[in-house]
Amino acid sequence: MKKPVVAIVCATGAVGAEFVGCLTKRNFPVGRLKALASARSAGKTVKFGGDTIAVEKLTEKSFEGVDIALFSAGASASREFAPSAVNAGAVVVDNSSAFRMAADVPLVIPEINARRITEHKGIIANPNCSAITALVPLWPIHKKNRIKRMIISTYQAASGAGAAAMRELEDSTRAYLDKRPFEPQVLPHRYAFNVFSHNTAIDPETGYNDEETKVMREARKILEDDRIAIGVTCIRVPVLRAHSQSITFECEKPITEAEVRTILSDATGVKIVDDRARNYFPMPIDASGQDDVLVGRIRKDLSDASGHSISMFVAADQLLKGAALNAIQIAELLPERVVA
Ligand SMILES: NC(=O)c1ccc[n+]([C@@H]2O[C@H](COP(=O)([O-])OP(=O)(O)OC[C@H]3O[C@@H](n4cnc5c(N)ncnc54)[C@H](OP(=O)(O)O)[C@@H]3O)[C@@H](O)[C@H]2O)c1
Repeated sequence: MKKPVVAIVCATGAVGAEFVGCLTKRNFPVGRLKALASARSAGKTVKFGGDTIAVEKLTEKSFEGVDIALFSAGASASREFAPSAVNAGAVVVDNSSAFRMAADVPLVIPEINARRITEHKGIIANPNCSAITALVPLWPIHKKNRIKRMIISTYQAASGAGAAAMRELEDSTRAYLDKRPFEPQVLPHRYAFNVFSHNTAIDPETGYNDEETKVMREARKILEDDRIAIGVTCIRVPVLRAHSQSITFECEKPITEAEVRTILSDATGVKIVDDRARNYFPMPIDASGQDDVLVGRIRKDLSDASGHSISMFVAADQLLKGAALNAIQIAELLPERVVA
């Protein structure tokens, strides 16, 4: 058996670094790793398993001999180059929004719908990081007692906007503390000691931004349930890494917090962190570097006297489960993982 040739299309980025980390940590069988990025990265290298790999400029010809291509270089790069990868015979696992809603592209969270992977026609899409964070714990509940409505408010970290946004949070904080002026370059507003609406475009008609729209659409596609009512508010907070969310959901049948705890204690990819006595609940600093979605503050939603609704708070490392880890979990289920 020959191990697959794996290409990372974003090798110098925040998600790219986590691709390398996940491949190593999960002992993914890699015959050869190709590190691809833009022309800006000429001369850079990436370390992998004791090797130093030169970063190559991404072109249409980058995929000859590649079996699995892990894309996370943004939607326009995916639209431009993923077809070349597929034509060269690679299976693409794409982290961007480019193909997620295409009818012939499976949108996969392995804990939920791994069975869809086999339906791919060359491209499998990795969902939006906020959608993954919410759905990993909601799915096992939905399976037992259909969720008919969910309200999600996000507290999204700098890491969701890439390596440059993480630097901007650090630099703007330093400048603020030193009483120096700071002009934001990556995000639209001062990031230090501030909170603002997610930095994606707002639909002038609906008032929802792109991130919120992605969560709503993708959740319905992944859960294969177009009737679910979903309300989302996405907010950027000055946290370096890992997204948090406040989630309230309403089920078809009555549900108790004890039932939710029982369901989630057996759920794959979920860890309950719910210590009322110590006021210790999911926090992004605890979620950072972790594979699981942390879930806590599980409690009855007192605004619903019928007993059908539960509120909870979650935190997850969106560079891992929200991006690189989920993509590698998909790749692990591909037959191309082992090349005959
Ligand atoms: N951050 C997250 O949590 C997250 C979660 C889910 C999905 N995503 C997706 O992943 C993408 C990257 O996120 P990130 O956080 O890793 O951003 P990042 O830190 O800014 O890294 C972007 C990477 O993509 C490469 N790149 C950008 N445009 C390219 C092009 N035209 N050709 C070749 N390479 C190109 C960059 O190469 P250079 O260094 O050469 O510019 C870099 O390696 C996002 O746009 C989004 O679609 C991110």
